[in-house]
Amino acid sequence: MDIQKLIRPTIKALAPYTSARDDFDQIGAKMTFLDANENPFDTTVNRYPSVQPFQLINKLAALKQVSPNQILLGNGSDEVLDLIVRAFCEPGIDNVITLPPTYGMYKVLAAINNIENREVLLNRNFQPNISAILQVADSYSKVLFLCSPNNPTGNVFSVKNVLELLKKFKGLVVIDEAYIDFSSQESWLNAIDDYPNLIITQTMSKAYGMAGIRIGVCYASKEIIEVLNKIKAPYNVNVLSIYKTLEKLTNIATLKKDVAKIKEGSTFLIEEMQSISFIKKIYPTETNFILVKVDNAAKRYQQLLEHKIVVRDRSSQPLCNNCLRITVGTQTQNKQLVKLLKKLEL
Ligand SMILES: Cc1ncc(COP(=O)(O)O)c(C=O)c1O
Repeated sequence: MDIQKLIRPTIKALAPYTSARDDFDQIGAKMTFLDANENPFDTTVNRYPSVQPFQLINKLAALKQVSPNQILLGNGSDEVLDLIVRAFCEPGIDNVITLPPTYGMYKVLAAINNIENREVLLNRNFQPNISAILQVADSYSKVLFLCSPNNPTGNVFSVKNVLELLKKFKGLVVIDEAYIDFSSQESWLNAIDDYPNLIITQTMSKAYGMAGIRIGVCYASKEIIEVLNKIKAPYNVNVLSIYKTLEKLTNIATLKKDVAKIKEGSTFLIEEMQSISFIKKIYPTETNFILVKVDNAAKRYQQLLEHKIVVRDRSSQPLCNNCLRITVGTQTQNKQLVKLLKKLEL
């Protein structure tokens, strides 16, 4: 597949902005920096960050066993997803394909950028409908968004389905792996070298417990990463977030412990919710949330809210009528929820 042909002509021709850090990116070096109109007095954050934090990128590259030039960091994975749309989709001409029920930002990003969003519903098992996807795709279909594990359904897409789409879809296939650390299925990272049209997004917001610092990661071929680097804002990842992430990555053991605890919490909630009469169905999950079908989602949502517990009513999404999405909390929070659900039964 020729990635160059998928890039918007304006972006291909673009001469990107070059910042002081592009010219010289050795912040730690003993140099006299008079190049970026910064304040010279040391506040620990008086200097601009690197255009892309190479220390963090090198660390992630080693951890994930990819090359540093296959990584781009963003202000959350939402920024990365937006960059993908803006680099490859020509407003008013190209289209993206999304598979509802799924993460709502794909649709919003398409709308913001005046890109048609072609929706192909997941099937009853929340798996992609391959033949329908390939049928709606045309030569203007630049991006197919696969969210696996999927939000809000919680399941992963089967390896067979993803492979078929990777082979047959003629545009970019973005696999959003925001919840991959909770999943028993392996990441698709190993496939980057085999499929030049594959882009993987991951985030520090879920298992890593750092939603507040906004770090998202994009893994793709060097060619795709170069295009995204061309259009991102000069200093899109701030110094404090870089420090905090580097610190977190030196302690992967705590991450694993947190994930194990969240999985235990998930098992506990699923077991306890099975006996709640107004919960009609509990969908299997490979994430840190559980989708449940109840008798009346609006009513149950309101009742929980009255007791100061906030969940998400996903009823507006196709195939999710009367469904609530419940994030797994601490064991205290999970017990509090179960106690209340039992009380509401009476
Ligand atoms: C599937 C999915 N992708 C991406 C995101 C956004 O992640 P980030 O915090 O990295 O922007 C979310 C957030 O809920 C999500 O559910």
